[in-house]
Amino acid sequence: MNLEEIKERGIAGIKEAKTFEELEAARTWSVGRNGVLTALLRSLADMPIEERRKIGPAAGVLRTELEKLLKRKKEELVAKNEGERLFDVTKPGKKASLGHLHPLTRIDAEVRAIFSSLNFSVLEGPEVESEYYNFDALNIPEGHPARDMWDTFWLRQNETPNSQLQIPNKSQFQNSKYGKLLMRTHTSPMQIRYMESHNPPFQIIVPGRTFRYEATDASHEINFYQVEGLMVGRDVTLANFKFIIETFFKKMFGENITFRFRPSYFPFVEPGVEVDVKIAGGKWLEVMGAGMVHRNVFNAVRYNPDEVQGFAFGVGLDRLAMIKYGIPDIRLFYSGDLRFTNQF
Ligand code: DAH
Repeated sequence: MNLEEIKERGIAGIKEAKTFEELEAARTWSVGRNGVLTALLRSLADMPIEERRKIGPAAGVLRTELEKLLKRKKEELVAKNEGERLFDVTKPGKKASLGHLHPLTRIDAEVRAIFSSLNFSVLEGPEVESEYYNFDALNIPEGHPARDMWDTFWLRQNETPNSQLQIPNKSQFQNSKYGKLLMRTHTSPMQIRYMESHNPPFQIIVPGRTFRYEATDASHEINFYQVEGLMVGRDVTLANFKFIIETFFKKMFGENITFRFRPSYFPFVEPGVEVDVKIAGGKWLEVMGAGMVHRNVFNAVRYNPDEVQGFAFGVGLDRLAMIKYGIPDIRLFYSGDLRFTNQF
């Protein structure tokens, strides 16, 4: 093969190479140890002197040229590969599947952190309660129509009462003030339990699970979470409540959150209010009940209602999570559906 042919085919081979393999093949063919140009250079020794003088330098020049072309092409392929094949930054990455917290757990942690920062103590109470703490002491005596506000899971009388709950045993049961056992319908009973053993001033929150015997739909579950709040002192007012709750909402949802108070009725407060938060689409969603603690509640825990006053509130944790994450149906929280929980 003469020099002209080697030049033509060698250059074409390099130019047309699309992969490292093809480029390597072109290199081996031309300037490789057993390549055609190498062979030609070797054969110089057998040539007549005039030819050797002509072809020798020309072959050397061609070798340099081919090597330069090979180097440039290689750089081109490397650059192209980095952009395309090896590190395609535009391709979606593979998500490592790590464990994570349930959205309700996250909201719960946030609520605790915010109220702690406002100097509230955080405590918890029993999920199995007595009628006395869940209703009577909260100014909802037996036969009071307000009991209909809470559809209740009642427990069988003959079940052994849990001593940790400070609920009397069966024989004491019938005539005791504690009444029947139930699944707490709200976290409010902890207001009574706390005040029975502490004196004001204090401010507490009580996050916990609550139960209602009712039909489920997008905004109702038989089991959900509440956070009770209670602040009692010599002159705690509804204005203090408004400040606390505004601070809470802003820390939870951001400065632009809009909320409103509506007059409402709960037996354990007077006056009573409900608080709504404005959600996407301009709709209002009720998130909590609140009010000034009723004198009968203070009487039940032997506080003097003429000497102390305070506010109480109960906020639906699920509702907060629904607002914060734009979740349309409360039942999703307890569905165990990974397509849902994996989004958080
Ligand atoms: N316990 C009420 C409920 O579950 C909510 C509530 C309303 C709690 C007013 C309060 C309150 O502390 O003051 O419907």
